[in-house]
Amino acid sequence: MTDLSALKAKYAEQIDTAPDLAALDAVRVAALGKKGEVSLQMRTLGQMSPEEKQVMGPALNGLKNEISDLVETRKIILEAEALNAALASETLDMSLPVKNETGTLHPVMQVMEEMAVIFADMGFAVAEGPDIEDDFHNFTALNFPPGHPARDMHDTFFLKPDADGNKMVLRTHTSPVQIRTMMNQKPPIRIIVPGRTYRCDSDQTHTPMFHQVEGLVIDKTTHMGHLKGCLMDFISTFFETDVETRFRPHHFPFTEPSAEMDVRYERVGDEIRIGQGDNWMEILGCGMVHPNVLKNCGLDPDEYQGFAFGMGVDRLAMLKYGMPDLRDMFASDQRWLGHYGFSPLLQANLATGLS
Ligand code: DAH
Repeated sequence: MTDLSALKAKYAEQIDTAPDLAALDAVRVAALGKKGEVSLQMRTLGQMSPEEKQVMGPALNGLKNEISDLVETRKIILEAEALNAALASETLDMSLPVKNETGTLHPVMQVMEEMAVIFADMGFAVAEGPDIEDDFHNFTALNFPPGHPARDMHDTFFLKPDADGNKMVLRTHTSPVQIRTMMNQKPPIRIIVPGRTYRCDSDQTHTPMFHQVEGLVIDKTTHMGHLKGCLMDFISTFFETDVETRFRPHHFPFTEPSAEMDVRYERVGDEIRIGQGDNWMEILGCGMVHPNVLKNCGLDPDEYQGFAFGMGVDRLAMLKYGMPDLRDMFASDQRWLGHYGFSPLLQANLATGLS
């Protein structure tokens, strides 16, 4: 009969001195694996006499459990040691000064951060959606029925049709995220949506890819006065000066009534100064969310209402930071980025200034 206590002592010693998890597993396999020493012993039970079996059966089972417990205990210790070693060797001192700060934050990113900070202060959360959209979210649900003339105004990029002839699109605006949000979230809703948008258009003031920030507020009592107050506050905070605004009636399929917000500006030499002056410049589109849009998202227009707005980020960046040509923004020219870029270490915030 095998001396089980010797076996136990042998494996206990090996488990105890296993230097790492791999070595520990090798010991486990040598003892308890299919062809392990203890497993082989258990296979001999069949040839034993009933009396012998009565003694050896429980003894071998006990040994197996004991070794397995020892392995588990040692495993916990080795895992903790491995984690501590990783933590010790992978520390990073965040307070060390940066040696080569060559990268800069692109003005579009800077301006999106600034907008997020301003709207966060008013209680807006940030939402996102996919750049590749289906027709339903980009158009139909936003009250552009098939064949609606406003669809053609979007210079849409279409993807190749699928087997059923359905064409996905590169989203032409951030408004489809309004739909995604209203279909997935119960009001009250208060979100902004910064993101990329695409239209087949290119000149000094248009690029095929550009950026928008969308806004959406839905609850039971929000009205046009809230819309105006929110956007007037936003624009003065953004330009860091008093900005006089006016709201001009307009048309968008997804809002009723709809408006465009203009800001006063003056031209001083080559420079455009936003805030005061004799000229008006259109800055954004907005309106009260159309009852059809609410219905398309499963919301009852007799219960819920709210406003939406959308604005071009790139143009606001150009106006705030004085860049003459929109196309330069996406030319990846290091000299331009070095000149107009922002320090990645300075976060926009309302307390110490946005820019
Ligand atoms: N989606 C519009 C566009 O790209 C912009 C817009 C206008 C968004 C009015 C809105 C809105 O949410 O209410 O032309």
